[in-house]
Amino acid sequence: MRAAMAGAEVGDDQRREDPTVLELERRGAELLGQEDAVYLPTATMANQIACRVLTRPGDELLAEENAHILLSEQGGPAVHSGLVTRPIHTRAGRFAGDDVRALMRDRTSMHMARTQLVAVENTHNSSGGRCWRLDEIDDVVATARELDLKLHLDGARLLNASTATGIAPAEYGRRFDTVTLCLSKGLGCPLGALLATSSELAWSARRGKHLMGGAMRQAGIVAAAGVYALDHNVERLADDHARARRLAEALQAAGLPVDLEQVETNFVQVDVGPLGLTREEALARLRDEGVLLSTTVWPTKLRAVAHLDVDDDQIDAAIDAIPRALGVLAGV
Ligand SMILES: Cc1ncc(COP(=O)(O)O)c(C=O)c1O
Repeated sequence: MRAAMAGAEVGDDQRREDPTVLELERRGAELLGQEDAVYLPTATMANQIACRVLTRPGDELLAEENAHILLSEQGGPAVHSGLVTRPIHTRAGRFAGDDVRALMRDRTSMHMARTQLVAVENTHNSSGGRCWRLDEIDDVVATARELDLKLHLDGARLLNASTATGIAPAEYGRRFDTVTLCLSKGLGCPLGALLATSSELAWSARRGKHLMGGAMRQAGIVAAAGVYALDHNVERLADDHARARRLAEALQAAGLPVDLEQVETNFVQVDVGPLGLTREEALARLRDEGVLLSTTVWPTKLRAVAHLDVDDDQIDAAIDAIPRALGVLAGV
């Protein structure tokens, strides 16, 4: 990847003259089942630009209550697009068309905000990296179209979902008005995301990129990492999923509270609450054993992530160290 970046052909991205950015955008659009794609520094920016191009100030965004767009983007939909946000309560990050219908505001009202946009997150981060089935998406899409709502797919980890379900990214993507794909997570780039959409909306999205200060110059240097990742780092996502599953099963067998049903892609959530530990205590103990886990929206749940910098030996080491760190004997 570093060599591809060093050798990248470049030009001025602001003027749409960077051949490597243009190539990445072409590949991204095709992959995600859309006409065009806009290369951006982060998936957060992609989500925020999607909100901006699909709404007007005062409109309402519906999204799952723990979706990244509501939880982890500092209220960006309100800040950048003047949106009211309303959470959809779910068990595992997925909701139904009827949930959207139930929340839809009366468009004839002189008083209420206009419900305008529905965001779907796939995989869903907070629920443990879980995937949407296509019939579930179809249900939400059909309802949203019937109600004249716009649809955004936060597919930061869409390729993990596709790897797990066998459903092509374009099959998911083509159903939405806008699609975010992150290049810096499982795909292993130092930075970068794509916002895929129609040719018409791509114009507004490029204006949004400029507005948010995301328009770059010789961005081909970093876009080359994205092209490399699409060529070399997609098929291997299945290895991450297998490693996450192996880790999850071993931790559960060792007596740790791990919900195996949640482990569909590359995350493993461990609940340290039943062990009588706070997450800060648990994180410190794990760090002492050389294992780094992250927090989640859930106060006592930690997250382990399998990714391209974690190999089989490191998974073995984690299987050994995590139960010991958390006061449970491995293999018991
Ligand atoms: C579902 C989802 N969307 C968007 C993002 C934002 O990604 P970035 O860090 O590239 O802004 C994340 C980051 O974790 C995420 O999990």
